[in-house]
Amino acid sequence: MCGIVGYIGDKRCRQNVFQGLTRLEYRGYDSAGFVCIDSNHNHFAFHKEAGGVDPLARVINETKFDGTIGMGHTRWATHGVVDQANSHPHFNCKKSIAIVHNGIIEGYEHLREKLINEGHEFYSTTDTEVIAHLFGTILPQHDTIKNALIELVSQLHGAFSFVLILEDHPDQLILVRHRSPLVIGVGNNEMFVASDFLAFSDKTDNIVFMPDDSFAILRKDGIELYSFDGKPLEITTEIIEAKFIDIDKQQFEHYMLKEIYDQKRSITRTVSFYRVMGSCTDRAFSQISASFNNHKSTEYSDSIWRQLSLSKAQINSLTQINLVAAGSSWHAARIAQFFFETICKIPTRIHLSSEFRYMPFFADKNSIFIMVSQSGETADTLEALRLINSFEISTIALTNVPTSSMVREASGFLPMQAGPEISVASTKAFSTQVATLYWFANRLALERGDITPEQMHEAEEDLFIAAEVLEAAIEIHKLRITQELAKKYAQYDRFIFLGRHISYPFAMEAALKLKEISYIFAQCYPAGELKHGPIALIDDKTPIVIFSVLDDLIYRKIISNAHEVKARNGHLIVFAFEGQDDLIKLADCAFVIPKITPLLAPLAMTGLMQFFVYHITRELDRPIDKPRHLAKSVTVE
Ligand code: M6R
Repeated sequence: MCGIVGYIGDKRCRQNVFQGLTRLEYRGYDSAGFVCIDSNHNHFAFHKEAGGVDPLARVINETKFDGTIGMGHTRWATHGVVDQANSHPHFNCKKSIAIVHNGIIEGYEHLREKLINEGHEFYSTTDTEVIAHLFGTILPQHDTIKNALIELVSQLHGAFSFVLILEDHPDQLILVRHRSPLVIGVGNNEMFVASDFLAFSDKTDNIVFMPDDSFAILRKDGIELYSFDGKPLEITTEIIEAKFIDIDKQQFEHYMLKEIYDQKRSITRTVSFYRVMGSCTDRAFSQISASFNNHKSTEYSDSIWRQLSLSKAQINSLTQINLVAAGSSWHAARIAQFFFETICKIPTRIHLSSEFRYMPFFADKNSIFIMVSQSGETADTLEALRLINSFEISTIALTNVPTSSMVREASGFLPMQAGPEISVASTKAFSTQVATLYWFANRLALERGDITPEQMHEAEEDLFIAAEVLEAAIEIHKLRITQELAKKYAQYDRFIFLGRHISYPFAMEAALKLKEISYIFAQCYPAGELKHGPIALIDDKTPIVIFSVLDDLIYRKIISNAHEVKARNGHLIVFAFEGQDDLIKLADCAFVIPKITPLLAPLAMTGLMQFFVYHITRELDRPIDKPRHLAKSVTVE
């Protein structure tokens, strides 16, 4: 993962680099570092710190070093513990080459051993430092930097992008990209480089997305771009006007809480957006105005299919839908399986992206693949997308980030209107994914003649109602949670979550949410599996949280599972719907919320579940928006 930022130009680099680093902290915040060729003595000056960009900035603010070429790094640790030594930048023995790196060098142990045997001294345990030492040995053997780079990349494996500064060549910034993104911003006598162009989006709109397997030699006024075998590549500059929006927490204590409350709006905006899609002719969705809600027509335009590059023939001959995702997005996809199979009656398979690439792949031209990802950058999902693309099967990116790699590489794009999600734990992205997939399942069914335009309209209304209930449920239970329950449940060390049918993937999401922000151990099971082993875990120290459903048959089964817990003196927390008295009276603690259309039951419970977890975590005084060891965008496999 990690975020890289670099600058070369007429101006001082430090401020540019720091601004970029702050914007890229979503890629990791284990440590941060900055290096430049100090204009005062023309040698490297650097500093690095464990912790995020703030601790680094505090230390660096006491110094004055700066230069016209420099770079910075924000780290998510892969190789080597989180400490100052393992923070980037890294150097070769002579300290004439500095590197910042994103990705993983596979088999670096052998290179490191070889270099140590040749007399190199290492200061960190990272894979990155190997590149600096290796390049230090390769560079003197070649007449040009370009030729040295050809040899360097031929010896590296894995997925990586990195930037090098050579102290002896202060007019050049060297960039290498292999399966991890690296973007160049072209300015006026200055160049910017970053893992994500948002790092410098207020400085220039002229963007060069480095192609995969390429390296570049960047001067303040020019770019040389080469393939890994040294062939010059054409430089394509795109104009990208998206700006980094510095999102304010408003009155909320954490971004997570703000984003929990954003959900009603995110869902209604997204549904309204799809309703008026007829007026949208290309991917410039951001230009659609916010006046969506007044659209009452039941006429649905075909623009969605153009947007998704799907023909009518393809839609009608679909025999399988596949969704590929990780983490919370995978849970959203698992919930959506019920939508596609129930509403469209099309067999639907859900794939965990980290496993997908390593399983047998049966290419079926009558299938589509929907890649579900908040960031659109998750390496596991992106690599799965590349594999599917190689079979020329239709792919759709459902993401929150229109400029992401997945949107660029998939054949179609389903945008969400959730707005930027800052907190590492996914909240509004998850619920908006669920809402979008529900809308899409209905739209597909409409196109195939399985439902009428009136039913489609009803489905949209149901989504609006679900968004209302999502927020109302929080309000109903807010006082109890904040004044009594959060304190009580923060004292437990472990929880078990149970769900059945459509509430099972939702229970998985709840368990993930609790684990990742509170660090409380949580395990999730399908409620029916309890009796096959996990029931042995029931004791008075392990609250069992059951999420109900609105399907009557499944609800009856859930009651039986709740009885099994109570018969063993288990402590039962229930999320139920109004009227589900048989379940509610079994509970030690019940959250009851208004009824809704059955397939949207998880969506209705989402806000309340997140709010409960948030407040338990707040009691424990955890860094809620930036939990330990995590990153917002997981760009390594
Ligand atoms: O950006 P993506 O949706 O592809 O990210 C997938 C997961 O990394 C992400 O959902 C992760 O599990 C979150 N921390 C969940 O809150």
